[in-house]
Amino acid sequence: MCGIVGFSSKTTSAVGPLVNGLSRLEYRGYDSAGVALASAEGLRIYKQTGKVAKLAQLLERALPERERAKYTLGIAHTRWATHGLPTVANAHPHVADGGRLALVHNGIIENYAALRAGLEKRGVKFLSQTDTEVLAHLVAAFDKGDFLAAVCDALKRVEGTYGLAAISARHPGEMVVARKGSPLVIGIGEKDVVVASDVSAIVAYTRQVIYLKDGDVAMITPDGVDIHSLDNAPVAREVQEVDWDLGAIEKGGYEHFMIKEIFEQPEALANTLRGRLDAANGTALLSGLNLSPRELAAVRRLVIVGCGTSLHAGMVGKYLFESLADVPVSPEQAAEFRYSNPIVGPDDWVIALSQSGETADTLAAVRESIRKGALVSGLCNVVGSTIAREAGRGVYLHAGPEISVASTKAFTAQVTALLMTALKLGRTRRLSREAGDRLVSEISRIPDLVGKVLEQNDAIAAVAQKYAQANDLFFIGRGILYPAALEGALKIKEVAYVHAEGYQAAELKHGPIALLSEKTPVVALLANIPGKEKTLGNVQECRARNAPVLGIVTAGDASAKAVLSDAIEVPATGVELSPIVSVVALQLFAYHVARLRGCEIDQPRNLAKSVTVE
Ligand code: G6P
Repeated sequence: MCGIVGFSSKTTSAVGPLVNGLSRLEYRGYDSAGVALASAEGLRIYKQTGKVAKLAQLLERALPERERAKYTLGIAHTRWATHGLPTVANAHPHVADGGRLALVHNGIIENYAALRAGLEKRGVKFLSQTDTEVLAHLVAAFDKGDFLAAVCDALKRVEGTYGLAAISARHPGEMVVARKGSPLVIGIGEKDVVVASDVSAIVAYTRQVIYLKDGDVAMITPDGVDIHSLDNAPVAREVQEVDWDLGAIEKGGYEHFMIKEIFEQPEALANTLRGRLDAANGTALLSGLNLSPRELAAVRRLVIVGCGTSLHAGMVGKYLFESLADVPVSPEQAAEFRYSNPIVGPDDWVIALSQSGETADTLAAVRESIRKGALVSGLCNVVGSTIAREAGRGVYLHAGPEISVASTKAFTAQVTALLMTALKLGRTRRLSREAGDRLVSEISRIPDLVGKVLEQNDAIAAVAQKYAQANDLFFIGRGILYPAALEGALKIKEVAYVHAEGYQAAELKHGPIALLSEKTPVVALLANIPGKEKTLGNVQECRARNAPVLGIVTAGDASAKAVLSDAIEVPATGVELSPIVSVVALQLFAYHVARLRGCEIDQPRNLAKSVTVE
């Protein structure tokens, strides 16, 4: 949610790296973008509404190539609006001190109204409606000659969350960055230092990075990085090596990141599985969980928290853990969980699911669960992310960077990781060796089975043509396929802007069926698992109301096809894998519908990939 980039060099112009960095971070927010550039003559600010490409055009016009060299220091921002409309005035960087100080910020300043009122009383004039602008003025107000101290003094007055970067014409060559609740990574290049909200904006320059922790403030100059606490005490942070390369965050010939990431799934899932299945014992290894058999055996209840697609993966997890490990599971929307004064304690195991590892509500749920003494694990994709670090134990998905705002490969990787976790927990309890063996061999087929669904891409594109005009869609599934229906509906809402709802197949007749007509198609999840016949009965009810029904069916299931208007085939699997193959088909379906409707697929309106505000 909002992307920040900062660049500091002795020799290289900051303009190119800042714009490149912003375009890599655009998935974090894209309603406006801006840069502040520093030279010996002072600061220059350029801001633009809309996407980074528009800012790049503005810079092309305003700043000829020959003038760029003198700007070797700068900060930049791409915004997802929270306080104030997406206008140029509200775009970052925000300035203070008569344009001598510029600041970019990701997060929310909760006490901004009080701070603003105080500053206004002292005569400060505000130019925007944002919460961020108070930060810029506060830093300016505290600047008595030491830039780092000024930022620290300002931040001590602030309640809320921030990842920020600031520069000032009074402090040439210096950039101060700070983090609390919003991620910030520092990349250490040979000659340059790059700062960004995540490593995707850094890997083009260096793989050596420092992940700042909450409460860290850093002074960055072309000579290096000095990290301090808010009380100005030096702190040491390890330099780590990122294992992503540039290819992983580029489109590689695909038209969109979404389709690239859908097609990456066989490889991504092979990476999720690598070295984690223990065929000799019919179980999974998952050393990162760091839980002894005794601790696992003592678990009385599981709570799986997440948001969006991660929540849907968690709902699949309920069926997996309950059937394989005989343990009751509550999947909980993370925000609802954290504010419900949750009843969790030492007998409970809380699993936080998050692709980014930065979602504010999921992180808060983790902290609340730790406070209440529960066992807490993170299942995250982004290595070194806040949830992964604070949970302290867990399973990395290793699905590679996910850039498309709509999540695809992270979902299948999450379900795969949950399945292995359920297998491991099951084998410490009642799950037999034979059942464990069967699951190990089934799980190892996941990459191939997903590959088989991808072979249906052309067929799915053809079916999508028949449904692309619908303005309302219902997705139905039962049991383990109910969360798959929710995920199918979410994908189509996110990327194709079609109103869609996911329902338990049996629930449709308790109200929503009133909305069915020949113009309101239904997508039914009909993989051949127990309960399918009942869902087929529900399909008949829909057909009797003239609703076209598209079924996701097991290959060769003629009896299911006979009652459907259209069908997409997925390979035969056991119950546990049925949501994986079904959702991959629904991802492709949503992608093609969105494409046919001419939608902006990778960056849908109003959304952001990483939601770091509550
Ligand atoms: C945002 C994204 C969704 C994602 C959700 C949770 O809403 O647009 O695609 O599922 O956040 O993100 P997380 O990183 O915690 O999985």
